[in-house]
Amino acid sequence: MTVKHFFYGLIISFAVPWLLVVAIPFESMRSLESVEFSEDKDERTGPYIPSRGGRMSNGSLIYAAENCASCHSQVIRPTYAGNDLFREGWAGASKDSRRESNAFDYPGEMNGAGNAFAHIGESRNGPDLSNVGYRYEGEQGYQDLLVRLYNPRLLEGNYKSICQPNPALFKTEDDKGQANHRDTLDVPTKEGKKVVPRDTALTLANYILSLRRDDQVPDSMNYNPRKGKK
Ligand code: HEC
Repeated sequence: MTVKHFFYGLIISFAVPWLLVVAIPFESMRSLESVEFSEDKDERTGPYIPSRGGRMSNGSLIYAAENCASCHSQVIRPTYAGNDLFREGWAGASKDSRRESNAFDYPGEMNGAGNAFAHIGESRNGPDLSNVGYRYEGEQGYQDLLVRLYNPRLLEGNYKSICQPNPALFKTEDDKGQANHRDTLDVPTKEGKKVVPRDTALTLANYILSLRRDDQVPDSMNYNPRKGKK
């Protein structure tokens, strides 16, 4: 092997992954055309606009700051790459509404929805959160979620959890009778004190609750395995 061949080899072994992992995906996703609903198949017309925004975007920033994405993914992989569609509750509330993630599930700053980050996730130490909103429904779900954000180990039967506690998002106040307020946490603390969420905790909780991909997607983007079956 000559020095020349060595350098050729070096260049190729960097260039090929760069092309496949950076250049081609960037080029194909930088200017996504909006997908239209079709009258025949969807019984409606117009472009598909994913519904997200407002305070959800602030929550997304807190999610980023707390590094939740280091342990939680938000991507339902296509079936050729993994078995996500068939995991209980991951891809949707019911067998009929589950679907794979698509590029429009990550609305960026550019299209007005204001999510600065696409929280695809770095690893899956915890469950995928694409549709976690379904798992915390109702008053009880909301309370459980706040307790989880404060300290996941306080949830019943969850004492070995490695999910990250976030006590800094809460404060301990004197109990002035706010015990019955829906935001007050029913967790053990000092005598005469109560744990209440800060604004950041509520915003993060709202973001988590908003994670449910239940809007209608055009038939051409719907990879539900039961698509077309009645
Ligand atoms: C060190 C890894 C790790 C980090 C960081 C982490 N989690 Fe978790 N998370 C887990 C694990 C493991 C579970 C499953 C065990 C459990 O339920 O507590 C979990 C469970 C959850 C669940 C319940 C999911 C379900 O299916 O019901 C939610 C919601 C959640 N995490 C939110 C968060 C949020 C929000 C953050 C950031 C503030 C975060 N997690 C940071 C590991 C992590």
